[in-house]
Amino acid sequence: MPTPPDGFDVRSLIARQRPGFTLEQPFYTRPEIFARDFDRIISRKWLFADHVSRIPNPGDYFLYEVAGESIIVLRDPEGEVRAFFNVCRHRGSRVCIQPEGHVARLVCPYHAWSYGLDGRCVRARGMPPGFDPEPYGLHPCRVHVFHGLIYLCLSWDDAPDFDVIAGHVEPYVAPQRIERARIACRETFPTDANWKLVVENFRECAHCFPAHPEYTATYAYVRACEHGGPGGYDEAIATWGERIESSGIPAGLTMWGDSFPDQPHYGRRRPIGNGRRTLTADGEPAAPLMGDFKEYDGGDSVFWLHPLHAVWGANDHVTLFRFTPVHAQLTDVELIWLVHEDAQEGADYDLGRLTWLWHETTVADTRIINDNQKGVNSRRYRPGPYMELEASVGEVTAWYLDQIRDPAPLPTRAGIGIGAGAA
Ligand code: FES
Ligand SMILES: [Fe+2]
Repeated sequence: MPTPPDGFDVRSLIARQRPGFTLEQPFYTRPEIFARDFDRIISRKWLFADHVSRIPNPGDYFLYEVAGESIIVLRDPEGEVRAFFNVCRHRGSRVCIQPEGHVARLVCPYHAWSYGLDGRCVRARGMPPGFDPEPYGLHPCRVHVFHGLIYLCLSWDDAPDFDVIAGHVEPYVAPQRIERARIACRETFPTDANWKLVVENFRECAHCFPAHPEYTATYAYVRACEHGGPGGYDEAIATWGERIESSGIPAGLTMWGDSFPDQPHYGRRRPIGNGRRTLTADGEPAAPLMGDFKEYDGGDSVFWLHPLHAVWGANDHVTLFRFTPVHAQLTDVELIWLVHEDAQEGADYDLGRLTWLWHETTVADTRIINDNQKGVNSRRYRPGPYMELEASVGEVTAWYLDQIRDPAPLPTRAGIGIGAGAA
């Protein structure tokens, strides 16, 4: 990692950041900035943790690890999903050590304080008679389950209003019936890069043509954009929209980033194109139809929850994306593939065909993001200008800077008209 500039100061870094340019080097490299990212963004936004089928029964739990924090995600006796910081209220030990399991209560392995599945301290071993364990419950996280997808917000007080997000994207997510789906497989791609390089890469397709031959062959919009704009692709979207209108499943794009800066998001549905019915190498179905779909209509739905999560659905499978910041230069990229609840591997689908597009694409993305970080770490790195095709990344960096900027200072006495002369 390069030596930080003398007088490293986040305010002056933000002040000298040029609009329309990539971020200054320390935003991608420095642990101090990563800590600020955690405080201002990662801990205050909804994060995707996993699919509900990971914890089907009361007492089932798994650990969700993000930026050095460990979160216990469990199902309580009433069937509700709850989440707690994995930090004992006695002397701070991790309470759960195994990454997943089944428990009747949570017992700390250090001195055996124990907690109910509602997080309350039910036994503070060794404390004197009359000790009140009530204030020593596990610290909770906000939880919202949306169509079988578990979202957490580590901050209890600052969680964005999930109902606003859900209301916007419901038409795009609901037809897939993700809540009934089963996990076909998951794959993790540890990526040696700052989380913002991962997100920036995911939010633009300017790299698709040179880096993703499989993705380019699959999606018609890639070549359309490469040749100067949607052009004929707009027409193809309209024609496809008319064709599927009677199905009641929406087509189109809805973007709410500007009106909900707390946590930008969008939902959209469009045709894959190139004569493809789903996201396989030959475009032919990979698995049984999911949810409300009655035919392989060649559509492709996306729910993007900025900055670290996407749900990508074809008629016969869904790919969930979870980007987990680990430290300033490490991000875990995890993909989870879902299929119809009754689909059986071998009989109903072939895993290789099902995962082909996003496996190949993510292997390539991991490589190009790693190379991006290596270049950004150079002493000769300087912020570079975005292409027109990367306008969305410019929006991402502008949003990021707004999020980590210090709040506007309170008006000074002079500023509100009661300066020294008026006092
Ligand atoms: S640290 Fe958990 S019981 Fe002591
Ligand atoms: Fe990519």
